[in-house]
Amino acid sequence: MIVPGFTLCFLLYEDQALMLHRRFPPNQGLWNGVGGHVEPGETPRQAVIREVFEETGYRIERPQFAGYLTWDGFEIEPGAIAIFTAEVESPDFITNHEGELAWKPKDWACSSPDVVDNIHVFLPEILAGKPPQHFHFSYLDGVRVQDQILELPADFDLEKPYYPEVELLEEQRGDFMLSTDKSRLQINVIHDFIANQSYWAKGQTLDVTERSIQHSVCFGIYKLGQQVGFARLVTDEATFAWLSDVFVLEAERGQGLGKWLVDAVCRYLDQRGVNRTLLATQDAQSFYETYGRFEILDVEGKWMRRKKPGSGW
Ligand SMILES: CC(C)(COP(=O)(O)OP(=O)(O)OC[C@H]1O[C@@H](n2cnc3c(N)ncnc32)[C@H](O)[C@@H]1OP(=O)(O)O)[C@@H](O)C(=O)NCCC(=O)NCCS
Repeated sequence: MIVPGFTLCFLLYEDQALMLHRRFPPNQGLWNGVGGHVEPGETPRQAVIREVFEETGYRIERPQFAGYLTWDGFEIEPGAIAIFTAEVESPDFITNHEGELAWKPKDWACSSPDVVDNIHVFLPEILAGKPPQHFHFSYLDGVRVQDQILELPADFDLEKPYYPEVELLEEQRGDFMLSTDKSRLQINVIHDFIANQSYWAKGQTLDVTERSIQHSVCFGIYKLGQQVGFARLVTDEATFAWLSDVFVLEAERGQGLGKWLVDAVCRYLDQRGVNRTLLATQDAQSFYETYGRFEILDVEGKWMRRKKPGSGW
């Protein structure tokens, strides 16, 4: 199923279109419609309503889906935009930090050399009232080299929530690598720390360590291939996560690896729009507050836990 990750909207008033003179890349210095990213968990239709309000102050209720735009070889990674139009009833908009907004004649928007040049291809089709089509643009060295006008893909869906495709995380910093690839984990190192050195799960059996890893998202840090750090996230990838078993081996502490781990975990959660993440810590509150924006829970009476008799946390 295809759910576009960006929106673009042309607000229309009489014979004019509201255009934004872009202050930032991509397409910096050119005029375009308004719009932006679809947030994880939002549908493209919800996103365009939010973006239009944030950028112009207009509360559009029924944006009209007008086309689907994709590209390759451009200044940003290949991606997909859902294009919308919406008629508005007054010409009054708010100022916008992303650039200058102005009403421009529709003919100007379709043909001016000052607009993003692929608009010349799709906006005339859209304003002529054609059913939504798929516009694909190929670029080479910053120049548009091929335009294709295709049928909409069959599995295109504007009413489904968007979730970015997230690949395995692999990052290198000098001799260290951070990875979410479970095949790299060194269970003996992880289990030795948890069972023998941690204060939260001393004496845990190898079977429990293995099963916990099997059903979690795991972050490992490796120094020249040797595991030196670990964090485990128990999550449904949508509403909730529990962060656990965070450690950096003693010999490698104090060089930013813990901070890197927590930052990677938080980026992972944010990419999926996870609402709520919990953790328990004996003495590292300020570490998680500073590097993960965690806050101490003071809601006695609301949160409950169920624990196995005799277990520590
Ligand atoms: C907590 C831990 C993962 C931090 O790893 P680390 O690689 O040493 O951390 P960093 O080098 O990235 O340190 C980042 C900052 O956090 C601070 N910090 C480290 N451990 C801390 C702790 N327990 N409490 C408060 N702050 C801490 C560091 O002083 C540093 O501060 P700075 O940026 O002002 O210099 C590591 O100390 C560890 O494994 N501890 C034992 C296991 C543990 O307690 N895990 C947490 C269970 S909830």
